[in-house]
Amino acid sequence: MIAAFVAGTVVALNAVAHQFQAGAAAAALPGSTASPSASVPASSTPSVPPSPSASAVPAAPPAPPVPPAFDKTAHSIDDPNSIWVVVNKQRPVADGANFVPPNLVDLPSDMPDPLGYMLRSDAADALHSMFAADKAEVGTQLIAQSGYRDYGVQVRAYQHYKDALGVAGADKTSARPGFSEHQTGLAMDIMDTSSGCDLETPCFGSAPSGVWLAANAYRFGFILRYPADKTAVTGYEYEPWHFRFVGVALATEMHNTGVETLEEFFGLPAAPDYAG
Ligand code: DAL
Ligand code: ZN
Repeated sequence: MIAAFVAGTVVALNAVAHQFQAGAAAAALPGSTASPSASVPASSTPSVPPSPSASAVPAAPPAPPVPPAFDKTAHSIDDPNSIWVVVNKQRPVADGANFVPPNLVDLPSDMPDPLGYMLRSDAADALHSMFAADKAEVGTQLIAQSGYRDYGVQVRAYQHYKDALGVAGADKTSARPGFSEHQTGLAMDIMDTSSGCDLETPCFGSAPSGVWLAANAYRFGFILRYPADKTAVTGYEYEPWHFRFVGVALATEMHNTGVETLEEFFGLPAAPDYAG
């Protein structure tokens, strides 16, 4: 295309130059009063006069390449080892009483982790970057409040809420054992050192770091898993602290398409409650 356009331009320029030279030669003839073009022999006139306007206008640029559609099957949503696993009240962790995720690591020492929770290494690396970016862009210090919880820890966590709130109250805020994303090693509850918020109220959602995390976590591969307006889909009340690692590709796709929950993105049924 470019070669054709350049070639066409050269032909047009050559033709114009030829005309100019022929006209100049005619005008230079003694006694000549005719217009240059009229004095040029017919045989030297191009049979089809060039049309600079037509030949000099470049063709429309080629359409930009269409990016490939996002592959929603690139990772399993069923396998608890997969970074895309979808766990909710309808989708327990497979073999939940025994499942332990791979590559669990302690968090780096520069990340406040008061209770010593671990995370999968890929999620831990991403969390480390996110904590550093929050410090640079917001100026606060984030805290890793609660990460990987094995089945037994979730038994105790759920029991704590059940004792305090009853079953209905507990189910709004705590997953039953075998149904928690925390057991995948891909979820982290995040707080900061300055807002004074805790894991019991929505306070963190309007704190500077909570606002920043909600808007920027996708850059590091995390999503806000339990948004305020998605209780009917996720089955849980707003948890502005609970971030789930899904990898940058999926988090970015969800951000760009405005789809907030894994259930909606993968076309899964809403999970407001447990089966049976
Ligand atoms: N708080 C979330 C829902 C959990 O217990 O996994
Ligand atoms: Zn959580």
